Amino acid sequence: MLVVEGLTCRFGTKAAVDSASFSVAPGSFVGVIGRSGAGKSTLLRTINRLTPATEGRILYNNVDVTALRGKELRQWRARSAMIFQQFNLVGRLDVLTNVLMGRLSEVPFWRSLAQLWPEEDVAIAMSALDQFDMAQLAAQRADQLSGGQQQRVAIARAMVQQPEIILADEPIASLDPRNTKIVMDALLRINKHFGITVLCNLHSLDLARSYCDRLLGVAAGKIVFDGAPAELTEHVARELYDLEANEVLGAAPTDVSGATVPALSSAAAA
Ligand SMILES: Nc1ncnc2c1ncn2[C@@H]1O[C@H](COP(=O)(O)OP(=O)(O)OP(=O)(O)O)[C@@H](O)[C@H]1O
Ligand SMILES: [Mg+2]
Repeated sequence: MLVVEGLTCRFGTKAAVDSASFSVAPGSFVGVIGRSGAGKSTLLRTINRLTPATEGRILYNNVDVTALRGKELRQWRARSAMIFQQFNLVGRLDVLTNVLMGRLSEVPFWRSLAQLWPEEDVAIAMSALDQFDMAQLAAQRADQLSGGQQQRVAIARAMVQQPEIILADEPIASLDPRNTKIVMDALLRINKHFGITVLCNLHSLDLARSYCDRLLGVAAGKIVFDGAPAELTEHVARELYDLEANEVLGAAPTDVSGATVPALSSAAAA
């Protein structure tokens, strides 16, 4: 169980995450939604400890993750693997080596420099690539792949860390609709098949509604909605997205009563 308690992350006087509290049960697929600048990326980065928390705590299975240092911190970062919008692969290296980088917390650094990867790690990496139909591209340079292929390599790299949580920061923001589906389906399979918890920042509400079993709505760093996708009324969605609402929701009429609107405009997928 991941428990976030009063988490605040300030940059100067600005609170990018402001007293966020929620818990995430193992095996959930949670969508983090909200307008640009709401604090979604900072929230995930703070959980992974890429960005330091100013106040509050993150507990994972009752261990205070905010207090970890050294090897334990590296292990936490592997356990809560991040996936980024821009894939973050090393373009000049081949696909297999990029995936093996996910084993760095297990393999001594000098071995990785010499590319002396243990056979067992190579087998784990190949099997992860195979899961996402990428094994045949193992020897290709990463920068020769399409965006969708690169993101699948990044997911394979996250998987070889043997994570318990995947923190995906707008993993499909740079992809076309076909690759968006391939990558979201890959995350869903990881979640359902391996029981890995997924926290995924998404700009598109339609995607969030189709893939997630719970949504966290973030506005100005605060969690302003926490519930099942069906509970997110158009009224709340409009508040969440503010000026971006028409872009994200389409030009559907506002439901001021706050009643649940089953499907928002498909313009959100654009
Ligand atoms: N390293 C930083 N230094 C200073 N301010 C930052 C930094 N990172 C984020 N911020 C600010 O914190 C706020 C939240 O940013 P964040 O990137 O978390 O939002 P977001 O919800 O992920 O937005 P987007 O949908 O555009 O990715 C913004 O006002 C941003 O300018
Ligand atoms: Mg972001």
